[in-house]
Amino acid sequence: MSNENKLMDRDLGLELARVTETAAIAAAKWLGRGDKNAADQAAVTGMRNMFETVNVDGIVVIGEGEKDEAPMLYIGEEIGMAGPQASSVDIAVDPLDGTTSTAKGLSNAISVIAISAKGNLFNTRNFYMDKIAVGPKAKGSINIEKPLKENIKNAAKALGKSIEDMTITILERERHESIIEQCREMGCRIKLFSDGDVAAAISTCFDDSGVDMMVGIGGCPEGVLAAAALKCLGGEIQGRLTPTTSEEISNAKADPSYYNVLSTDDLAAGDDILFIATGVSDGDMLKGVRFMPNNVVKTHTVVMRSATGTLRFIEAVHDMNKKPSYAKVEK
Ligand code: FBP
Repeated sequence: MSNENKLMDRDLGLELARVTETAAIAAAKWLGRGDKNAADQAAVTGMRNMFETVNVDGIVVIGEGEKDEAPMLYIGEEIGMAGPQASSVDIAVDPLDGTTSTAKGLSNAISVIAISAKGNLFNTRNFYMDKIAVGPKAKGSINIEKPLKENIKNAAKALGKSIEDMTITILERERHESIIEQCREMGCRIKLFSDGDVAAAISTCFDDSGVDMMVGIGGCPEGVLAAAALKCLGGEIQGRLTPTTSEEISNAKADPSYYNVLSTDDLAAGDDILFIATGVSDGDMLKGVRFMPNNVVKTHTVVMRSATGTLRFIEAVHDMNKKPSYAKVEK
């Protein structure tokens, strides 16, 4: 591995687990309270504050949006202590993937960060991306430029499964009616989810999830974050920008490369990528935050590193009476 691509501090994963834990605890206080903006704001504040204790020289390449709209964790914001020996890094954040799920008390909401050496994480201001993702055993069998049915057939072949046994997970949106219809015509199983396509893409990499493929249009930051995780897990994601606003549509017309296929490596390049996520509500991979008696809080976090392929699950028990640095959010 070249030194350029290496994250100098391998303990960074644990440092960043504190960041997603803080954001997840703050967001989880808003579970089911019907206020997605408050849940998101709590996660952003928690994440931003805790980042100040981490010795990186980081720049948010994909995050909460533009500076004007987002007071914190906006694209281009410099974060981290930037002290001596600080690694120079690109950071992708989604303090709360699943704001609506959190507001409704539904599953699969997570707080998430990916980090890599500078210049390695895909940077776009576009909102949506078309995506197809599979786990390690089906890696190499997908091509987003081919029809969906062909991709399902090829992935089924790679997995040694019948089409009827394939499970495709799809974000439940009107725009996905046609792909849902195509899956039904083929006779494969479908697992719809209401929000959170980072967790959904990751589920393709875990046999126990029962999910073989994720397809559909979701957010661009979520595409980059999912690519970071799939790179650590040996899976594959392909993306293609989907213009929706008038500005994006005119950008797409002006730039022939706009619709280029974005491979896992285009989205998350380099040999050393860290992906960290903490569950806010219960999901396939992570348990949600638990508030216990005596101001004790339990969190469940995954830390992945592409350079070593190590996957660590951290169940943490926090005595909030002793942790003033963790976000305090009004109930
Ligand atoms: P937020 O929590 O930021 O709202 O994102 C949730 C999510 O489901 C993402 O996982 C997904 O990529 C995106 O929304 C899809 O966007 P939309 O809800 O506009 O279809």
